[in-house]
Amino acid sequence: MAGQIPQRFIDDLLGRVDVVEVVGERVSLKKAGRNYSGLCPFHQEKTPSFTVSADKQFYHCFGCGAHGNALRFLMEYDKLLFPDAVEHLAGRLGLEVPREGADDPHAKGREKKRREGVNLLELAASFYRERLAMQEGAAARDYLNRRKLSQEVVKTYGIGYAPSGWEGLKRHLSERGIAEPVQVEYGLLIQHEDSGRTYDRFRDRIIFPIRDVRGRTIAFGGRVMGAAQPKYLNSPETPVFHKGRELYGLYEARQANSRLEQVVIVEGYMDVVALAQYGIQNAVATLGTATTEDHLTRLFRLVSRVVFCFDGDRAGLQAASRALETILPLMLDGREARFLFLPDGEDPDTLVRREGSEAFADRVTCAMPLSEFLFEQAGQGQALSGVEGRERFATKVLIALAKVPEGVLKSLLLEELARRSGLSRQRLGELLAQREQQAQAAGRLREAGPAEQKEAQAVSRRAPMVPAKASAGALSPLARIVQLLLHEPGLMEILPDEEDWLPEDDPDALLYSVVAKLLRAGRYRSTQVLLAHFQGSLEGRRLTSLARRELLIPKATRKAELTGLLEHFEKRRRRQSPQEEYDALLAQERAGKRLDHDQRRRLATLVMELSQRS
Ligand code: UTP
Ligand code: MN
Repeated sequence: MAGQIPQRFIDDLLGRVDVVEVVGERVSLKKAGRNYSGLCPFHQEKTPSFTVSADKQFYHCFGCGAHGNALRFLMEYDKLLFPDAVEHLAGRLGLEVPREGADDPHAKGREKKRREGVNLLELAASFYRERLAMQEGAAARDYLNRRKLSQEVVKTYGIGYAPSGWEGLKRHLSERGIAEPVQVEYGLLIQHEDSGRTYDRFRDRIIFPIRDVRGRTIAFGGRVMGAAQPKYLNSPETPVFHKGRELYGLYEARQANSRLEQVVIVEGYMDVVALAQYGIQNAVATLGTATTEDHLTRLFRLVSRVVFCFDGDRAGLQAASRALETILPLMLDGREARFLFLPDGEDPDTLVRREGSEAFADRVTCAMPLSEFLFEQAGQGQALSGVEGRERFATKVLIALAKVPEGVLKSLLLEELARRSGLSRQRLGELLAQREQQAQAAGRLREAGPAEQKEAQAVSRRAPMVPAKASAGALSPLARIVQLLLHEPGLMEILPDEEDWLPEDDPDALLYSVVAKLLRAGRYRSTQVLLAHFQGSLEGRRLTSLARRELLIPKATRKAELTGLLEHFEKRRRRQSPQEEYDALLAQERAGKRLDHDQRRRLATLVMELSQRS
């Protein structure tokens, strides 16, 4: 009997795959509100009654009642047995399916077969690593020295050297019983079209093994040491390597940080490795392609924040705007994206070596928030003084906004757009409606191919223009005050020394007091230093999460907002009668919560006040 698959593994698996992705690969889906819909694959129909919910991670057909999660779908649609469906989903994530109890000879056989490809690549990786250490690797070692790569980082990333002959690797692998066609299939050999002769793909190059999330070598990148072209050569698409999905350095980043929270997406192998050498161990690189939706979807399963890193030149800006387009539809609540532009002529490799890791880390911390970049892009070449310019600006932003999923970010962006463009909500709504009509008209002219469908999804039916009021992700007024202080510590000046306005019941009250005390003492005038003070503590985590949120208001209006918030609390306090306040403080003391200095003073004052009255 087959060993049982542990339930925990199945739950974990379902938590990590996306049913929309699984179904979407087999059924053409359109976005409809929060869900996706399409023609039901389980019965004949002309109008779609089949929906897939990304939130709930299940599909449901209102026509035939078919219903289930990603596993159920695979079983029904691909006609798979349960364990095979699990294998399939696990395979997508590069996970091995654990078994409890008795061994299953079949599963073993399958696993062995699947591993063969990987084993061969593992063999190749050690071959390259060994060559680097040997006599023939001398020039390669020189090159790595010149590029100032440390021994340690060479080891961590398993960097190697492919010797210059035509058949070094081929002989090595063939001697170990690996058939040539397999070597060709996995991209290690190139087969000449006419003669059918085979030879090593990578020759006389520095080799960077590309690993999947579990650390298995799935492909290679090879850099020339001289001026030959192409500078970098990558493995072709193979059964285990799809370059639009994989990210160089992701495995190593996860190894280095057990709690990876953000990744920095850079352009090249050398950038990832150099940053790691300097202690910035969360950089990943795409493999000679632009960042794809697939890349980002995978990353957002692991981290909540991505920071794109681009050259400061024109090409960099263009790449950034493509990245923005790609990421907009993925900006669910809780996710964050930033854009970092490097000085002209620098890449992360050169910059971190010149400036050091702290300076580079600072650049990452201060990278431009998505909102900022979005507005900047839309404002390019637009004279915002006239109504026309402002409307063009607003339209551009709205086109982008149409792609953003409903949520806090979208609401904030809309509010900010109203503020920046000076246009009323109503006018913004009209502009958006116009856009939709245009898009629909354009859509009718086209046959709906997959690419068009995607675009149609993005611009079709729109959300109401009213931003969600205090939605789940919105900050409490006190948290907002702390956030404002974090972004601009100087604002402490307009807050009173007395904290009698502070709402005791607010979970951030204590945090505010501590932060305020530090700021008043005048030692923490920069956010970074302030955050560093709390590093590793619970408060630290809360503060970092507040600091990370975008302010979305210009500097000039922050003071006004702070004053407003303070007034809100003052008013609230005044609603409390002295007797009520006295009772509350007393109750607090009786409950064993110590009163602080200010509260004790307040209590004394209240006792006086109340006794005078009676
Ligand atoms: P760059 O040319 O910017 O290289 O290519 P780099 O990372 O700065 O490398 P060094 O510092 O010159 O060694 C960036 C990335 O684009 C891909 C590679 O993934 C590379 O790391 N690329 C570049 C290719 O795939 N092929 C090429 O010919 C060039
Ligand atoms: Mn470089």
